[in-house]
Amino acid sequence: MSAHKGLILDEAKKFHLDVRDDAPFVPGTTEIWPAGAVLDENDRLALVEAALEMRIAAGPSSRRFESRFARKLGLRKAHLTNSGSSANLLAMTAFTSHLLEDRRLRPGDEVITVAAGFPTTVNPIIQNGLVPVFVDVELGTYNTTAARVAEAIGPKTRAIMIAHALGNPFEAAEIARLAEDHGLFLIEDNCDAVGSTYDGRLTGTFGDITTVSFYPAHHLCMGEGGCVLTSNLALARIVESLRDWGRDCWCEPGETNKCLKRFKYQMGTLPEGYDHKYIFSHVGYNLKATDIQAALGLSQLDKLDGFITARRRNWTRLRDGLEDVPHLVLPRATPRSEPSWFGFALTVDPDAPFERAELVDFLEDRKIGTRRLFAGNLTRHPAYIDQPHRIVGDLTNSDIVTEQTFWIGVYPALDDEKIDYMVSSVKEFVGARS
Ligand SMILES: Cc1ncc(COP(=O)(O)O)c(C=O)c1O
Repeated sequence: MSAHKGLILDEAKKFHLDVRDDAPFVPGTTEIWPAGAVLDENDRLALVEAALEMRIAAGPSSRRFESRFARKLGLRKAHLTNSGSSANLLAMTAFTSHLLEDRRLRPGDEVITVAAGFPTTVNPIIQNGLVPVFVDVELGTYNTTAARVAEAIGPKTRAIMIAHALGNPFEAAEIARLAEDHGLFLIEDNCDAVGSTYDGRLTGTFGDITTVSFYPAHHLCMGEGGCVLTSNLALARIVESLRDWGRDCWCEPGETNKCLKRFKYQMGTLPEGYDHKYIFSHVGYNLKATDIQAALGLSQLDKLDGFITARRRNWTRLRDGLEDVPHLVLPRATPRSEPSWFGFALTVDPDAPFERAELVDFLEDRKIGTRRLFAGNLTRHPAYIDQPHRIVGDLTNSDIVTEQTFWIGVYPALDDEKIDYMVSSVKEFVGARS
């Protein structure tokens, strides 16, 4: 390491101490965020070092992150993207590739998904001219079930794309079996659930392809960022092409002629020997992330196991503390799962003697941050009302989620003192209104 770099990193360490927030927790005054990035000195140094080296595009840190993260999740290939939403777009679009021949999805094909959740789990279905088929969720787990998915399978169904809700696994083994039995593709949106297991197996490993988000609220943070993972090498190649402008070539930027055939291809109606670097086999995007993001991701990855433990500890302390509180549906893990929780969902009983808004206002006044379960019932939003879609069964629980549910935080920056204050605040409000 150069002497100057060493000096700058030493100064960055001192700066980290200068700006650290070690103010004591003051109940009602200190903000208790529902989610956020948990960044330490090593994260700051990783960012400073990446900036000093001016690794401004995707490069070696991105490749290192991809291979370490794939190994961590037990999958063969990872492709870093600029967001979890981009990862979802790539995952869904991959199944429309001509390289899948007869199995490719075509406009009008149906994809089963969940009505209550995050919009960009569903948007890639619509963006690819496919038709979302919405099923309802269960209150408490906030996931759909294999039975609901089975009921929704029809002659045009070709795929299933579902998120593990707030870190809580859906019935991944059963839904993967349904997909296999009916020849459907399964995409697991694992953006909120890195480290969760179902039947002792990591979520993200049940489907054909899976996605992760590295936005600050998520288990690992890159500022913005996401990832598509799969063990299917043909799909991985399609994802890479779609992510990297649609090109056919798989050389890294800065690399040339890895295949030793750069000027020997003939594709489409191009002349023989047209530079493979500029042959496009998909109508693609550029959804890559930068090495600065990846440098932060690598530093965060070292802490993932600790983050997951802290999320579980905080969720359990909230769950135990609120066990006997009336008028609230408490969250519960899907049977046979061990969630790596994203948040702690609460549903106010429709016949409770208080409104969700009153409880949320009470908590927010105490600086306890709350969030809705994302969009609630997506089919009620202006963006989706006129989109072709099908609804199977009714969406009663999705409507209850829209009207009665919110969540509070479990992220690793919360400690017992804050969690206990969250518990006592909910109890105080409900106790006064019961
Ligand atoms: C389930 C789910 N999928 C996808 C996303 C999108 O991720 P990003 O914000 O990185 O685009 C989110 C975002 O929070 C999410 O919760």
